[in-house]
Amino acid sequence: MSDPTTTTAAAPERPVDKPVEEMGVDELAAAVRYHNWRYFALADPEISDYAFDRLTRRLAALAPEHEALAELTGGADAGERVFHDVPMLSLDKAYDEATVLKWADSFEGPIVVSPKIDGLAASLRYDAAGRLVSAVTRGDGVRGEVFTQNAQYIDAIPKQLPEGAVAAAFEVRGEVFMPLPVFRERFEGTFANPRNTAAGAIKQKDPAKTALYGLDFRAYSAVGAEHETVWDFVAWARGLGFPVVESERVERDGVQASYDGWLARREALDYETDGVVYVADRVDEQRRLGATSHHPRWAIAYKFQGESGTSTLREIEWSVSRSGAITPVAIIEPIVLSGATVTRCSLHNLAILRTLGASPGAKVVAMRRGGVIPHIEAVLEPGPEEAVIPATCPVSGHPTEQVGDVLMCSEPHHCPAAVQGTLEYFVKSIEVDGFGPKVLAKLLDKGLVTAPADFYRLTVADLEGLERLGRKSAKNLVDGVAAARRLPLPRFLRALGIPSLGGVAAEKLAGAFGSLDAVLAASEEEVAAIYGLGELTAKQIKHGLETRADIIAGLREHVTVEDHALAPQGPPAVAERSDDDPVAGRSFVFTGKLATMDRKSAQKLVKERGGTTPADVSKTLDYLVIGDDGSPLLGEGAMSSKHKAADKLVADGAALRIITEAEFRGMVGA
Ligand code: IVH
Repeated sequence: MSDPTTTTAAAPERPVDKPVEEMGVDELAAAVRYHNWRYFALADPEISDYAFDRLTRRLAALAPEHEALAELTGGADAGERVFHDVPMLSLDKAYDEATVLKWADSFEGPIVVSPKIDGLAASLRYDAAGRLVSAVTRGDGVRGEVFTQNAQYIDAIPKQLPEGAVAAAFEVRGEVFMPLPVFRERFEGTFANPRNTAAGAIKQKDPAKTALYGLDFRAYSAVGAEHETVWDFVAWARGLGFPVVESERVERDGVQASYDGWLARREALDYETDGVVYVADRVDEQRRLGATSHHPRWAIAYKFQGESGTSTLREIEWSVSRSGAITPVAIIEPIVLSGATVTRCSLHNLAILRTLGASPGAKVVAMRRGGVIPHIEAVLEPGPEEAVIPATCPVSGHPTEQVGDVLMCSEPHHCPAAVQGTLEYFVKSIEVDGFGPKVLAKLLDKGLVTAPADFYRLTVADLEGLERLGRKSAKNLVDGVAAARRLPLPRFLRALGIPSLGGVAAEKLAGAFGSLDAVLAASEEEVAAIYGLGELTAKQIKHGLETRADIIAGLREHVTVEDHALAPQGPPAVAERSDDDPVAGRSFVFTGKLATMDRKSAQKLVKERGGTTPADVSKTLDYLVIGDDGSPLLGEGAMSSKHKAADKLVADGAALRIITEAEFRGMVGA
């Protein structure tokens, strides 16, 4: 709702009492004014937020320009949570063809298949005049967050549909995502993945900043617009100018083939996918099936499983990390996943173990994606009994405690596993080789090393004879430690083993503050203000530095921490396009062999001048530069695939220009 000061001072009249659908414009306006007044002026609302939302939306649909809406200071504010008319549900999941076929037995008619885009579900509302009136995130499925202003800066979202194209208000749902080339080009290393980056992008306080993230959108369904089939919806939405998720229509015997097809194309897609979505094409069948509170019965996601398989959970092992966190690991009957035999699968933490319902004897789906540690994706059948959560730390024997989602050893500073893990991480991070787990365990056992600073006190005599270490190896270890008496600031920070303070954050801190003293003196707010860190990370870093004050002081007796050059802060610069500068704000892709420089230097030249260098040719590209060495533009050699793609785009009317290396050199003044 809105600012009370903008509502009329006099008490508005009580509106007529009838269903929203039957109210006329004047009645709706009266109701909106009255209930807004009760809410803000009297702080005594008579109707729910949801009911109020419906009134304003109905009015917005019938009379988008009505003054009563303007009085609400522009409707919902950015970030405000509003109800969805129809809840935005999740999808049921399948891991094999049989499950999909069984699901497909429950209805008649074809199936529409599309890739499951790993982005953010969004609801876009249009009024009867075809104007975008709100953009809202999925949120918890019942209420989402408003991002209407930010949506103005997502090119793929239509803001105004062609005149007369629609007759009534409706809602389109789809996925907002960051294209992979954009992520790789600009955010990899700064943010964890495209999805999180996109989530941050639509929350920008200054909506114009959303444009810097190059987000994209694909529609997949509509609410309030009647169609007989999903296939009809696709054609209708395309006709209105919506980019629609790519899809195909299949019969029961095409279920597996369509899955295989999308899996084969997965790497070539512009977005991350983790499966395909099957939807019953016929809307009458969708209505008949309905939904559970969690998912519609007319849709199912078949997760990509080239890297997953089913097995039986034998037992749960609890392993203690350097932070003292006790992590459950599922030991399963061996299965082969992407060529490797897997017996140990992460269960992440206590909360996830409980949500999954994992326990010995359970039938589970194990998954291994992108070379990461395998994890348990789902429990298909529970085991005979619940998992037993250890009451004491399996290493130190101290009582355990649950902190948030995680089971912890209550005495991590006195837990041998945690202490050894911390020390191991420290020597590895300061790049001293040779202190493997066995040597460390001995050193710990003898009380020779209990804190990081102790490494610097070790003598050849201490080490000789430990774990069959000869005099020479012992001397190498001591020399190795001596070489680490000067440490670059980022390396020192990272070696402290503070949660959230990995390599990337350490570089950022060093670049922002320049010296260890300045880092230690920085407030939580100052750390949070560093681009790409944020509040939660800042809190963890600040807390970590404070609780390690003794360790840091101990280390400073032996170690000189080098100052670091201050680095510019803020998002990667994207310059404005201008007529005076042919490079700033424009994008360049290179192909073929450059005759006068290597590709990296050419890209660097572009970036220095405020241009960008996307990974691939697209219709928004400004220039494709063909290297002069053996260039078809100069009458030699064959066209590269990028060149062919660009040629086709030009033929289709794209503004893209294909230029020679010499022309490029002229533009950058090289
Ligand atoms: S169809 C339940 N098609 O996946 C609504 N959804 O995990 C059926 N999603 O919230 C929607 N790609 O945001 C559909 N090609 C696609 C999709 C897709 C991604 C999302 C959707 C939903 C989530 C469920």
